[in-house]
Amino acid sequence: MHIKSAEFVMSNSDVAKCPKDRLPEYAFIGRSNVGKSSLINMLMQRKSLAKTSGRPGKTQLINHFLVNKNWYLVDLPGYGYARVSKSSKKVFQKFITNYFEKREQMVLAFVLVDCRHEPQPIDLEFMEWMGETGIPFNIIFTKADKLKPKALERNIKTYSEKMLETWEEMPPFFITSASDSTGRDEVLNYINELNNS
Ligand code: GTP
Ligand code: MG
Repeated sequence: MHIKSAEFVMSNSDVAKCPKDRLPEYAFIGRSNVGKSSLINMLMQRKSLAKTSGRPGKTQLINHFLVNKNWYLVDLPGYGYARVSKSSKKVFQKFITNYFEKREQMVLAFVLVDCRHEPQPIDLEFMEWMGETGIPFNIIFTKADKLKPKALERNIKTYSEKMLETWEEMPPFFITSASDSTGRDEVLNYINELNNS
């Protein structure tokens, strides 16, 4: 898919105030610092469309980006960031779950996991919640540039085995790097197919 335009539309903590035009949207979710905002910038080939940071907890609102004037990318705050206070964590989680439960035009969520890490309970639990709630998702293994191919392959095998303890099959997944644009065509083509189906 060719990206002709990508523009920031709005930031929100209230799902009721998100864009009302019913265009299809795709959400990026995962632990703080996993690379959600960086991935959006990489997909759009825009350096700082979505704000990124080395410090976890950068994205704190639901951010809508309009792409090619006919679909949205949604950058969400990370979950599982220990340094935000317990009460603000609860508010965060509430508006993230609210978003997924209420946003009917959300076609697919991409759950991002850092390819370097062992399967983390918080991610597995989040995906279980998605499954129980009936929210379609794929997995994106991020930061692929940080691993050699063999190690990457091994980690994905470990991840798949862990998923198969709970799931009948491994959900579709992608491997990406915001540093060298690995996976860009694959993710964009997948979105394009869904938009046209
Ligand atoms: P929050 O908004 O805090 O939840 O984080 P986020 O998931 O949006 O992560 P963000 O995109 O801000 O990236 C976090 C850090 O990881 C930044 O320092 C990025 O430069 C780095 N990073 C993100 N993606 C990649 C990648 O593919 N490769 C490498 N090497 N670094 C990455
Ligand atoms: Mg972010």
